[in-house]
Amino acid sequence: ASTLGAQAAQSGRYFGAAVAAGRLGDGTYTGILGREFNSVTPENEMKWDATERSRGQFTFGAADQIVNGATARGQRVRGHTLVWHSQLPDWVKGIRDANTLRGVMNNHITTVMNRYKGRIHSWDVVNEAFADGGSGQLRGSVFRDVLGTGFLEQAFRTARSADPAAKLCYNDYNIENWNDAKTQGVYRMVRDFKARGVPIDCVGLQSHFGAGGPPGSFQTTLSNFAALGVDVQITELDIAQAPPNAYANTVRACMNVARCTGITVWGIRDSDSWRSGENPLLFDRNGNKKPAYQATLTAL
Ligand code: XIL
Repeated sequence: ASTLGAQAAQSGRYFGAAVAAGRLGDGTYTGILGREFNSVTPENEMKWDATERSRGQFTFGAADQIVNGATARGQRVRGHTLVWHSQLPDWVKGIRDANTLRGVMNNHITTVMNRYKGRIHSWDVVNEAFADGGSGQLRGSVFRDVLGTGFLEQAFRTARSADPAAKLCYNDYNIENWNDAKTQGVYRMVRDFKARGVPIDCVGLQSHFGAGGPPGSFQTTLSNFAALGVDVQITELDIAQAPPNAYANTVRACMNVARCTGITVWGIRDSDSWRSGENPLLFDRNGNKKPAYQATLTAL
């Protein structure tokens, strides 16, 4: 096939991009979006600070724009993200009472998921809950500090009730190298969830890579997670300087793992990227395909 989405679909996978509502008026951007991708992830528009800036006041305008546009183009949507310590309003960070915070978290999950019920193929229910470095433990956050480590289980159970058709993912960065303590911490959590029947369907590996691309153990990490009985997805791919081989290696690792169900790049053109100084994406500032684009298409 001649586009990323169509080529990925030949093996039953999706190829997606993070989309910003503010760019949907740009014809070059939407031209590439509609042509190349069959999944979209709202880059910021479904985050807590965008959807519930004050308690109980939900705003969905920008997220609706992205979801409705995707539906019109026949694209699937990843939901990103429900429970995250970052881009979290101060009113949530200030809650000290566990019953209050549990109610607020459950209401946020339920209300946002209900809005898009049946239209999201996978939800990042919890994002980036594990600490960097060697601990393999959860990072400090209002959720962990007030609710304890059980907040993840609570979030996934609530999410399952809200939209039983959506795949429920745990999403994080720096869990691509099998030997990292953070990877091992996430692995132990998923194994424990599966053993105890806590609902979880997928692990999202963000895959924000340096110019060297994925670690040598990347495919091992994908297959080890998959062996626990979850799908794996590459959810936020970008690679400093976008070396074609680094992209090809990333895509091949996914293609070699049956339960690696899709890849999302974190933006379209280099100028759209949160790492724009590193030119990490598949299209240049003018919307032209870069060498990494061809390498990606060939590897799919
Ligand atoms: C980034 C967005 O790309 C930026 O526009 C925003 O300013 C900050 O967040 N991990 C995630 C994504 O899960 O939500 C982040 O997106 C990048 C890191």
